[in-house]
Amino acid sequence: MNMHKYEKIWIFFGSATLLVFLTLVGISAFYMGNKPPSCAVTLDPETVREHTLFKEPGLKEIGDNEYQLTIVASAFDYDVGNPEKVIEIPKGAKVHVSSTTTDVIHGFEIAGTNVNMMLEPGYISTYTNTFKNAGTYTLVCNEYCGVGHHLMSATIEVVE
Ligand code: CUA
Repeated sequence: MNMHKYEKIWIFFGSATLLVFLTLVGISAFYMGNKPPSCAVTLDPETVREHTLFKEPGLKEIGDNEYQLTIVASAFDYDVGNPEKVIEIPKGAKVHVSSTTTDVIHGFEIAGTNVNMMLEPGYISTYTNTFKNAGTYTLVCNEYCGVGHHLMSATIEVVE
């Protein structure tokens, strides 16, 4: 079989790229232990407020510089535990975020951080993030959810 020179080059290039990609994914998954955010925890979207995690939304200290942040999303609001919709987090704190929605799909993005989740009715979305830089961050909904979509936001203050 006669193969053109360029064909050989591209087959080599394609295979090498695939190999590098699979190696990186393998190292990331098996050596560094990275995995996609879990969405295996389910609840009834109609009774979110009765769930132990979401009875009192907001920030709770659970350890040494470690916090649990729970937020209930609904059209078109994030319940963060206070009417001002401001969450104060000490700089450097490790925060376990848990959130869910009581109605339709909402987004959960803390702009400027790696926190970016989709909130689906019936599922608890979780993400752990360490807030390394002080400043004001905005929690926004990035999934179109209706006429008030653009009004859905809350503020996160990372303080020294
Ligand atoms: Cu909630 Cu868009």
